[in-house]
Amino acid sequence: MMIPDNPNTGHCLNLPEYPVYIGTLRDRICHFLENNRHSGCFILVDDNTQQHCLPVLQQQVPQLNTAGIVNIEPGEIHKNLKTCELIWNYMLENRADRNALLINLGGGVIGDMGGFCAATYKRGIRFIQIPTTLLAQVDASVGAKVGIDFGGVKNSIGAFANPAAVFIDPVFLQTLPMPQILSGMAEMVKHALIAEPQALQELHSLLPIQPVTDWKKMIYKSILIKYEIVKADPFEKNIRKKLNFGHTIGHGIESFSLLPDQTPLLHGQAVTLGMIAELYLSEKKQHLPKSQLQTAIEVLQKLAPSYPLAGHHYPQILRFIANDKKNQNGSINCTLLSQIGTAHTDCAVTAEEITEALNFLNSFFN
Ligand SMILES: NC(=O)c1ccc[n+]([C@@H]2O[C@H](COP(=O)([O-])OP(=O)(O)OC[C@H]3O[C@@H](n4cnc5c(N)ncnc54)[C@H](O)[C@@H]3O)[C@@H](O)[C@H]2O)c1
Ligand SMILES: [Zn+2]
Repeated sequence: MMIPDNPNTGHCLNLPEYPVYIGTLRDRICHFLENNRHSGCFILVDDNTQQHCLPVLQQQVPQLNTAGIVNIEPGEIHKNLKTCELIWNYMLENRADRNALLINLGGGVIGDMGGFCAATYKRGIRFIQIPTTLLAQVDASVGAKVGIDFGGVKNSIGAFANPAAVFIDPVFLQTLPMPQILSGMAEMVKHALIAEPQALQELHSLLPIQPVTDWKKMIYKSILIKYEIVKADPFEKNIRKKLNFGHTIGHGIESFSLLPDQTPLLHGQAVTLGMIAELYLSEKKQHLPKSQLQTAIEVLQKLAPSYPLAGHHYPQILRFIANDKKNQNGSINCTLLSQIGTAHTDCAVTAEEITEALNFLNSFFN
């Protein structure tokens, strides 16, 4: 993979659908706004990004000081139709027409919901994404998925809609809490594990995270890996399932952790645990060499929260895994590795094998 060597200004990924800029926002957004006239600009934020990210954006791009600010409450529980109504109402009341621009400034919740609101408002207005969490920068910035949670099901209402552009500035990561950083890092490690062994070493060298970390190159690499996979399979028929590595067991643990009497995990934290468990299955079922298993585990241990599971939790976790939408014909499917960098989709595993994998995972915390 070729990476343009311009560490000062950052990188530009000219995807056929839209450009993704990685680096300082100022010049690029100003340039975008001057070259794309809009009848009005609206910035969608949540309480946290209004406090931490909006001042940075407005200081860098003074034209945005007059933009309408649409504020919503933070968190996945607000990624719903009710919040969309608030957003649509604000835009209607402030006379946003079909030439208005919506700027989504926030994590994946803001990006997904703002993108959905823009894609449907007056049959679609332009929107740009300024992701401010590491997870949204490396994961949600590619793939054009927008949507909300509905009927208790995550992302059950949505669409594929391309933003006009994505602007990624690692400056926003300075205020992001460490668990959120590590959660985003988990998806970066996943990208390396399924497609690029060298990136794994580079990510390893970033751990533990230092305040001066230069994120630009690694964010760029990570996006490129996801993009290559999404490009080959835009509607998630086959190859894109490689991105599910760690997610079969990870989602099961995530759902379990969100039960009222458990300690909630962030998505990336649960996926870290899921990857450790699925590495065990990779060795067992795809003959991942032991030395590679150890290398991968070494990196993941630096990201993993301590999360011991009791034996009586297993049946509940297994139920969540069995009900996952990724399963077909009654069997549980995982993406597994035969090598670091080589992923195989739709590997059927049994409940007994998952139990073994959970025991393996648990051995790190007992
Ligand atoms: N569209 C996609 O392809 C895609 C991919 C991955 C995830 N997602 C979605 O993204 C969501 C998760 O994203 P997320 O982890 O970014 O969650 P999030 O948007 O809830 O952000 C996490 C928390 O960080 C706060 N925050 C954001 N930026 C900050 C900053 N710079 N400084 C301080 N605090 C900040 C937010 O207010 C929030 O409290 C999920 O809804 C998921 O479905 C979508
Ligand atoms: Zn994920």
